[in-house]
Amino acid sequence: MKPFIVEYKSYYQSADCSILDKIERYSGYLEDHEEKKMNFFLKSPLLSGCENSSTIYDRHSSDNRQMTMFGSNNYLGLSTVPEVREAGIEAIEKYGVGSGGVPLFSGTHILQQKLEQKIAALKGCEDSMVFSSGYAANIGTVTGLIRPNNLIVHDRLNHSSLLDGSALTGAKFVRYLHNSPLSLEKTLEENHETYPDGMIVITDGVFSMDGDVASLPEIIEIAKKYNALVMIDDAHATGVIGHKGAGTKSHYSLTDGVDIVSGTLSKAIGAVGGFVASTKKIINYLRLYARSNMYSTALPPSVCASAIAAIDYMQTSERVEQLKQNYTYVSENLSKLGYSTGKTESAIIPMMIGDEATISLMARDFFENDIFVNAVFHPAVPPKQSRFRISVMATHTKEQLDRFLNVADKLGKKYKII
Ligand SMILES: Cc1ncc(COP(=O)(O)O)c(C=O)c1O
Repeated sequence: MKPFIVEYKSYYQSADCSILDKIERYSGYLEDHEEKKMNFFLKSPLLSGCENSSTIYDRHSSDNRQMTMFGSNNYLGLSTVPEVREAGIEAIEKYGVGSGGVPLFSGTHILQQKLEQKIAALKGCEDSMVFSSGYAANIGTVTGLIRPNNLIVHDRLNHSSLLDGSALTGAKFVRYLHNSPLSLEKTLEENHETYPDGMIVITDGVFSMDGDVASLPEIIEIAKKYNALVMIDDAHATGVIGHKGAGTKSHYSLTDGVDIVSGTLSKAIGAVGGFVASTKKIINYLRLYARSNMYSTALPPSVCASAIAAIDYMQTSERVEQLKQNYTYVSENLSKLGYSTGKTESAIIPMMIGDEATISLMARDFFENDIFVNAVFHPAVPPKQSRFRISVMATHTKEQLDRFLNVADKLGKKYKII
């Protein structure tokens, strides 16, 4: 079979013709995607909950397939835990399905406030506030805090929501080399005199496509030297690293030094929504100035109830430890097979392939072997660094992990990756 070549830019950049011209060209490209029975841009959907083994409707063959899930962010498997479901069902029965308003009008429910207290305690902060998604939390936090006279300093691999939020502030933003304290220091050194009104250093806690952990102690030390604030995005750290899944600060046993922690309820917590945690003063300010919160309907009470139950479950069960055992097993064994997996220390394992044509063929083969994985291409990752973003779950059995490793071994040899 001929590979499917993922081209992003040519279909999204303007061709100086019309707004719709790029859509015509993209539609032609999508036909090739469909003819080759790929699932990158149009998906074969889940018919079941997102579990370690999920039922997928194969839209190309119209079959229902039972596939082992290595592509979800439901790392702890909490989205289907009975206690978490029941909390949501009970709240729907009591309060209905929607919150009925934006947080500053009628949308603030008592369950939302309980959830915010729980998140603040988890993150070791005075207070927190929730948003409709992690994306909205990052956009709202960055636009709420930063003005055009500030400088935003990003790790080169920070999540797009942080970059999109930065673009909306009108402030200049610069990027330092990935997880490099040296490069961060150079950037702050070069800029601090030009930005006397303040700089902020922002980094993912666990990087979303590489699974490595930010060098937080060094980042804090350098930021403080130049009087810059520190914000971390704990989207993939929450529920994965730190004591009972508390995240990046806890991973390094830090209590101080991080000014703002954002994150999501949509990944290891298994629900949906985002949050930011900080001092009471900062949170009270953001309740008014984070526009993605102020101008957007509050989370439904049922989601808040499920998220509270999920955090309780996470803190009282063995899921975080099980997850660590599972991702350590997979990353060590992928390396033994000869795959490059970067510097992951989390449930996200980059299985590096590089060549885009090869990864598209391998993706088909994984699917045919009933293993659900996500292939990631430029611009989500740098050019020529396409990879499978393997996500391990606490609920994977040893048999499921071994079967995945066995298929990865066969395909790696077939495509001469290992
Ligand atoms: C690092 C990071 N931050 C934020 C988000 C956004 O979170 P959500 O999916 O809840 O909008 C994501 C999700 O992909 C992410 O990977």
